[in-house]
Amino acid sequence: MDNDVLKNIKARRSLRAYTGQQVSAADLDTILEAAAYAPSGMGLQTWHFTAVQEPQLLAQLNERIKQAFATSDDPHVRERGLSDSYCCYYHAPTLVIVSNVPTQWWAAMDCACALQNIFLAARSLGIGSCWINQLGQTCDDPGVRQLLTRLGVPADHKVYGCAALGYAPDGVVFKDKKLKEGTITIVR
Ligand SMILES: Cc1cc2nc3c(=O)[nH]c(=O)nc-3n(C[C@H](O)[C@H](O)[C@H](O)COP(=O)(O)O)c2cc1C
Repeated sequence: MDNDVLKNIKARRSLRAYTGQQVSAADLDTILEAAAYAPSGMGLQTWHFTAVQEPQLLAQLNERIKQAFATSDDPHVRERGLSDSYCCYYHAPTLVIVSNVPTQWWAAMDCACALQNIFLAARSLGIGSCWINQLGQTCDDPGVRQLLTRLGVPADHKVYGCAALGYAPDGVVFKDKKLKEGTITIVR
């Protein structure tokens, strides 16, 4: 039997198209508080959550990520950097940048726990979300870093992931989720 928490976990899906409707201040506070309640290695909570809701700054961030991609050796990444239409955050109205000090080997795990709390809290409020990974590869590019610092990401942090947040346009259909077989072993 599914309780509300399990139903919410199973109903969460990555959303890759957003309406222009902004996430309210109260909902954003709730989501960020849920993030901060996630487990962290030794309870150190060295992470930082930088939420950006200003459309021009988000567009600028995308441009700087594209500039970094444009010089990549990987043709697929380079193609994204040179594309006029590429938007790594799918024009979501809110992006939460999740960063951490890289000095503990579990820094990325702390951030992943916080991100999952963000996705589930958002889902429980009727807000769609998607993990956005492009700052993981580009946060130390000088142009990207300059803007991240302006936005409030601590200078000694690396970005381990971001959450795009917003509302689904009418008619969005999610493919049925098929669970891969053979990923669970139970020893009794
Ligand atoms: C570590 C990680 C990185 C991801 N990066 C991206 C990304 O950059 N862009 C994107 O559209 N989805 C990204 N995703 C979302 C996955 O593609 C998605 O979770 C997966 O396809 C399963 O779909 P679901 O989230 O709807 O269950 C990422 C997910 C994880 C866990």
